[in-house]
Amino acid sequence: MIADLEIGLARPGDVRRIATMSRDLIEQGLDWRWTPPRITAALHDPAVNVAVARERGELAGFGIMQYKDDEAHLLLLAVDPARRRKGIGRALMQWLEATALTAGIGLIRLEARTGNAEARAFYRKLGYLEIKSVPGLYGPGEDGVRIAKDLWLRE
Ligand SMILES: CC(C)(COP(=O)(O)OP(=O)(O)OC[C@H]1O[C@@H](n2cnc3c(N)ncnc32)[C@H](O)[C@@H]1OP(=O)(O)O)[C@@H](O)C(=O)NCCC(=O)NCCS
Repeated sequence: MIADLEIGLARPGDVRRIATMSRDLIEQGLDWRWTPPRITAALHDPAVNVAVARERGELAGFGIMQYKDDEAHLLLLAVDPARRRKGIGRALMQWLEATALTAGIGLIRLEARTGNAEARAFYRKLGYLEIKSVPGLYGPGEDGVRIAKDLWLRE
């Protein structure tokens, strides 16, 4: 496990770094939609949690989850490339899943690019199931896969 890792809610001072990480690590090849103003709006949205992982105080990763009536939707998740495979992504997901359960929500949904083998392996390892392939989900020629986890099943 990682020493000195803290998971908690993002602060306004994290916005630019989160937006830049989204642009460079998640939205590459697409239009930049998660700009700083949109991240700021997410911080203030009562139906959204922006969680960050800090390693020795430095922002190492983040995840954004939107809560609906009876399910939650993971909008973004990324870990700094230099800090991967140390359990930070797992720790972020565990925090977000625990928060969903606390809110009475047992179903998490998300999407990934079909070509993102790393993310698909990550979610599989965490107990997520691939539900459906969606051609062109991310634009022409950029297929996606819908992924979900029923948190009640592991109780
Ligand atoms: C997906 C991502 C968040 C994983 O973060 P991470 O901190 O490296 O993940 P963890 O260290 O917690 O990995 C947990 C387990 O997932 C699996 N896993 C993680 N990355 C993997 C990879 N590249 N290949 C295969 N399995 C992987 C492993 O089983 C791993 O456990 P192990 O290291 O003990 O074998 C990170 O790779 C990332 O930021 N990718 C770019 C952004 C992205 O694709 N986001 C998701 C969009 S839907």
